[in-house]
Amino acid sequence: MLANEYSYSDCLRHSIKNAWTVDDCFQDRDFDFSKMFLPERIAGVAGIVCLNEEEKLKLNQIRGNSYCHIFAFVEEYIIPMVLDHARRDVFGDETRLRFLLRFAEDETKHQDMLRRAMTQIDRGLGHTCGVIPGREDVARVVLGKSPLAALLLTSMIEWFTQLHYVEHVRDSGQLDPLFQDILRHHWIDEAQHAKADTILIEEVAAELSEAERVQAVDELLELGMAIDGLLAQQIEMDIDTLEAVTGRSFDDGERSEISSAQQHAYRWTFILSGLEHPRFVQTVGDLTAAGLDKIEHAVGALSQ
Ligand SMILES: [Fe+2]
Ligand SMILES: [Fe+2]
Repeated sequence: MLANEYSYSDCLRHSIKNAWTVDDCFQDRDFDFSKMFLPERIAGVAGIVCLNEEEKLKLNQIRGNSYCHIFAFVEEYIIPMVLDHARRDVFGDETRLRFLLRFAEDETKHQDMLRRAMTQIDRGLGHTCGVIPGREDVARVVLGKSPLAALLLTSMIEWFTQLHYVEHVRDSGQLDPLFQDILRHHWIDEAQHAKADTILIEEVAAELSEAERVQAVDELLELGMAIDGLLAQQIEMDIDTLEAVTGRSFDDGERSEISSAQQHAYRWTFILSGLEHPRFVQTVGDLTAAGLDKIEHAVGALSQ
């Protein structure tokens, strides 16, 4: 059981030791627009033949903005979800309560950090980047699913946040230092959140039958498909922004080339890097073998 490796007291200790503020992260800095914001594995711009190098750099920076937006967007529901779990045992384990309250507060801090980044990126690009609306509606949809489905989505997101930073950002050496620091600060907190998710999943799943666990995996995959639809909308908005900041107008063939490269990159970033994360796979495998088969099937379909 993966949850046995983690404890709320360990999460709390790390969280207190590594506490940071949004001002600590920004240190009054601005972004350097001569540099990439995202690593190529996330941005997926290098192979687009209809764009020159300068336009690829702009698309990378626009993607930096939408990366911040999508995180702020999908993490919105986590705040009420974690508070609900905290309230479930409000007079019980004080360490659990303290950590879960910090967890919720961390997510409000992340929203503040990510929105500040977006404001500065818009200012630097001289254009307000288009971003998908409706985050409260999405939060309501996620919270309308079973508690286990919402926790599995959270676990997936919090593991992939770490993978993006540790494997693709930390040692890159080519990225804008402020953007890199934003992802580093996010990772510091998410490293504890992902452990707590695993414990919460075990708490919730202990009371569920195999059929209910499989049902939660089905709901997670429905949410994944809904996120895929939102990403497709964001891709079109990113291309509109790229037209605005470069002064170019893309014909249908160019738009479709950019869009299919971006679909590949977005899907890996926000869905596949989570569903395939070894710790997430282990968490689902601990819950239900049938659910794990469904996840593997979905990964196969989305990877094509
Ligand atoms: Fe977060
Ligand atoms: Fe988090």
